[in-house]
Amino acid sequence: MPDPLRRMLSLHDFEAAARKRLPKPIYAYVSGAVEDGHSERGNRDAFAEYGFLPKVLVNVSARSTRCTVLGREFAAPVGVAPMGISAISGYRGDIVMAKAAADAGVPCIMSGSSLIRLETVMEQAPGTWFQAYLPGDDAQIAALIDRVAAAGVGTLVLTVDTPVAANRENNVRAGFSTPLRPSLGLAWQGLTHPRWLFGTFLRTLLRHGMPHFENNYATRGAPILSASVLRDFSDRGHLNWDHVAAIRRRWRGQMVLKGVLHPDDARTALALGMDGIIVSNHGGRQLDGSVPPLHALPAIVDAVGGRMEVMLDSGVRRGTDVIKALALGARCVFVGRPFNYAATVAGQRGVAHAIALIAEEVKRDMGLLGVVDVRELNAEFLQRASRLAGRGA
Ligand code: GLV
Repeated sequence: MPDPLRRMLSLHDFEAAARKRLPKPIYAYVSGAVEDGHSERGNRDAFAEYGFLPKVLVNVSARSTRCTVLGREFAAPVGVAPMGISAISGYRGDIVMAKAAADAGVPCIMSGSSLIRLETVMEQAPGTWFQAYLPGDDAQIAALIDRVAAAGVGTLVLTVDTPVAANRENNVRAGFSTPLRPSLGLAWQGLTHPRWLFGTFLRTLLRHGMPHFENNYATRGAPILSASVLRDFSDRGHLNWDHVAAIRRRWRGQMVLKGVLHPDDARTALALGMDGIIVSNHGGRQLDGSVPPLHALPAIVDAVGGRMEVMLDSGVRRGTDVIKALALGARCVFVGRPFNYAATVAGQRGVAHAIALIAEEVKRDMGLLGVVDVRELNAEFLQRASRLAGRGA
């Protein structure tokens, strides 16, 4: 059988390959965005709005993509973003992503909406960061934080852009829910996607039992497939900065807020002792029409004035995107969906290939830009397209 990775030449290529393998509802969940898709499209368009101003005749024969993020050195400034239920699209998805990232020397954030116990992932890939959604009440928050600490997590990432559930119409249309409800339609989807049925779902059931939400709380949550169990979607609407301050007092490790777009929030995060923030609109999956993180980045970098690390996710697909974000002040970036697709297509090898592709793009693009070290990047290498367009006018 030909190796599917031979045809994976860019991160974009993994999507079509994963789409063929996955039952429709699962593909819809991973690929989907919210409402009319303005945020998701805007994320990609924002990168296209910047052009490069390369410097020529620079000796670029020795280039380094190494970077330091939160005091740790990484091989490249691009890591794996947290993605829920990855173990239902790719076999042991959370583990293969974390191990591929650890082997490549790049950061990886494990999702709190995952189907593998975080303790297992931390054993297999120590150094993985853990992303939590705050549970609804103080005692549950404290219990989760203590569990995360006991598992040996050093960097806790709190996602803060999900105060209420987003309007994921695409999930409803595709028949996706958590838990998934057994139905003839779902069975048909399984039968017509045998590589997924045997390679991911049945393999998981036989070896590890029915997957459950393991890490939303200190204790096990709902199964991923059930006719009757209801998942606890208790309201998070009351959560506020006091909860962040309380966690900061309890949590001794590094703490990062993910989902910040407003400079005032970045200042508050800094004042409350965060080590970093991830400028993000959740890959276009929360508030539709929220500004692309790339456009929010410069004001946030200004607001925190180098006193806190600023990272970015949402829409990064190419080495040139990574470079644009770094030039505008991000310390590193995270990529989501393509790594999920890569795990679906070829497991850990697929994710390793995807990481290598984008890291190599960064290195090649640095050469073409006339940069030998990612730390040299700054806004002078970029020009906003609207300025270019305005020139002749
Ligand atoms: C979870 O964070 C999701 O975006 O589905």
